[in-house]
Amino acid sequence: MTDENTKSRGNTSTMWGGRFNVGPDAVMEAINASIGFDQRLYAQDIQGSKAHAAMLTACHIISAEDEAQIQQGLDTILAEIETGDFAFSTALEDIHMNVESRLAELIGDAAGRLHTARSRNDQVATDLKLWVRDSIDGLDSEFRRLQAAMIDMAEQHAATIMPGFTHMQAAQPVTFGHHLLAYVEMLGRDRGRLADCRARANQSPLGAAALAGTSFAIDRNMTATAMGFDGPATNSMDAVSDRDFVLELLSASAIAGIHLSRLAEEIVIWASAQFGFIRLSDGFSTGSSIMPQKRNPDAAELVRGKVGRIVGSLNTMLVVMKALPMTYGKDMQEDKEPVFDAVDTLGLCLAAMRGMIEGMEANEEKMQDAVSSGFITATDLADWLVRTLDLPFRNAHHVTGELVKLAEGRGLGLEDLSLKDMQSVEEAITEDVFSVLGVENSVASRTSFGGTSPENVKAAAIAARKRFL
Ligand code: ARG
Repeated sequence: MTDENTKSRGNTSTMWGGRFNVGPDAVMEAINASIGFDQRLYAQDIQGSKAHAAMLTACHIISAEDEAQIQQGLDTILAEIETGDFAFSTALEDIHMNVESRLAELIGDAAGRLHTARSRNDQVATDLKLWVRDSIDGLDSEFRRLQAAMIDMAEQHAATIMPGFTHMQAAQPVTFGHHLLAYVEMLGRDRGRLADCRARANQSPLGAAALAGTSFAIDRNMTATAMGFDGPATNSMDAVSDRDFVLELLSASAIAGIHLSRLAEEIVIWASAQFGFIRLSDGFSTGSSIMPQKRNPDAAELVRGKVGRIVGSLNTMLVVMKALPMTYGKDMQEDKEPVFDAVDTLGLCLAAMRGMIEGMEANEEKMQDAVSSGFITATDLADWLVRTLDLPFRNAHHVTGELVKLAEGRGLGLEDLSLKDMQSVEEAITEDVFSVLGVENSVASRTSFGGTSPENVKAAAIAARKRFL
């Protein structure tokens, strides 16, 4: 993909230079050209042109002979680009003019009829929408695969007990499976946001022309249907100036990225020697060139870091679009790089996360050790006082606090206190209290809807499979 035949067909004046005497300054060309990145839209550009040409013929705006040549020429160009035999030219600015110029080389005058009743403004909006739509479909299947890996692991660890944290302090025992399924829910909402974006975006801008519509009797429904849109965008000015679909994709991606970054951070923490809750596979760990003992969770750190790019892309596009007057402005050419980068980055992060999850081993002993300290069943004790002794919860909380203080002072766990010790704080306490102090009992008792009991988690994993896979 070089610029070498710029000379033969790189003359912009054939596209829009009729009123100019001198070609663009080199700096003008550098700032104006988008071909370096928008060549990624080639398939969508050709798809849109083919639909447009067929419609122009059906509406008797161009002849069937011209259309046949156009279709054939476009097929040739598609093949050339896919085999790397197409010379992209910076002088031809963008993908639209590169394709059209090559078409003119291939078929001559008929090529000039393709641009009837359209503009690059509706063309680029159409191309990018098609690309966004395809990307959402691709991302959705990456999300689904990650969810599948997490549901499998959750099911395997439906009864594996670990500390659940608030404020990063051990709070109550939960199961590892429950923790993983929390992320499955987040990813499900991420998919929902992308699906919403896709549904709202699915209106064709093509035929809005530059901004005002066209005097040709075109059939916008026909092109919309041919490209799988639900219908044509209603207002021609909105159609060429709307980039909501970009902003929605980027915001959905940024939120998804935030979710992945939270999981990435937890993986980093869990994989540390201090926690030791998990071991990442060799394939998803790296070594240190100086410290032989290290197994670094680089993939998790990179997911955590790369999310910054996705959030940055959203920010870029919010600022680009802010205060843009109607309708199209060249500012909007800046939409592509952030979209491409965000989609690539999110796709890579999803794949890396899946790789980490699939090869991850949970260290059940380390998790168990971590729940044995920190008075993690204190809430169970308070609940027992409410349920069995009918204490108001606030009093029960206070009594439990006293018992924690007592145990802590003696370097014991709550379950190690004698009944007599317990009764010195609240005389009505009976032997039965010990039944709720073990972490297994605690976890098993959390049977409320959405709670962490192993039974719940097993059922939730099955339900998640039905809902998401
Ligand atoms: N390369 C342009 C973009 O990406 C295409 C539309 C240009 N339209 C125009 N009237 N100059 O936005």
